[in-house]
Amino acid sequence: MTQYHSIKLKPVSQVMGAYVGDTSPETFNGKLPPALASELKSDFARALAEHQLLIFQNLHLSEGELLSFANLFGKPVPYPFVPGIPAFPLIVPILKEPQDTNNFGGVWHSDTPYLPSPAAAALLHAKKIPQHGGDTLFSNMYMAWEALSPSMKRTLQPLSAIFHSDKEAIAKTRASSTLDPKRNLIAEHPVVRRHPITGKPSLYISEAHTTQFSTMTAADSEPILEELFAHIRRPEFCYRLKWQTNMLVVWDNQSTQHYPVNDYHGERRLMHRISLAGSKPIPYATDSNC
Ligand code: SIN
Repeated sequence: MTQYHSIKLKPVSQVMGAYVGDTSPETFNGKLPPALASELKSDFARALAEHQLLIFQNLHLSEGELLSFANLFGKPVPYPFVPGIPAFPLIVPILKEPQDTNNFGGVWHSDTPYLPSPAAAALLHAKKIPQHGGDTLFSNMYMAWEALSPSMKRTLQPLSAIFHSDKEAIAKTRASSTLDPKRNLIAEHPVVRRHPITGKPSLYISEAHTTQFSTMTAADSEPILEELFAHIRRPEFCYRLKWQTNMLVVWDNQSTQHYPVNDYHGERRLMHRISLAGSKPIPYATDSNC
């Protein structure tokens, strides 16, 4: 396990995730000396790639502090479909009111795979949590890939898939907050991607956005995709995050998927979210072991 210079980690499960302790106030107000900031950035990048989910407890952050903190993980970028809060357009409110029925993003997904360079990671800061429920499930896509049969791996490894932003299942979860509901963004990416930091392969398809493999029709793709969508939900690959007010979570969007559970009707849940710029997914080379 990697040794970190500027942070202390406590793993929360064997699947993924670690609590991060010992963060000083300067970490959030942008006043860290440059050498310390650079050490922290490098530790955070490695810790996120290794543990996939970093959990900070009890952080009372203003919007400015949240944005400043996000800069230690990468470059904050706008989310294509939901406007940010007026004074901080890069901070997107994820809100479910007591009268709402849908929850934002309530289908298994990784973020923005319909972009040429999908988000590398995202931060979510819990502002208002329901009394019961409102957990988020995270699934480990390294494990999902590893657990596939050798013949399924051989089938999938050379393939790429098509991702749509307006696949019905996901589009309806953002209907009330969407900037431009008719806009459909489309991208093609490798089905098995190599993580830019760990070098490890992970499965990259999602129920929310993948419509077909690029060399097959949608009809021919469907049975394989349905099998994979069920596979990624297997409890063995999942960590269930129970939120607390002022908890802040950062997930590696390159090796995980998530599913916010919609089980708190009649209550309010408000999160502040920041997406971080990513790079074009790298295919996992065909000469690698599988
Ligand atoms: C999202 O998909 O970004 C929302 C996650 C959550 O609300 O827990």
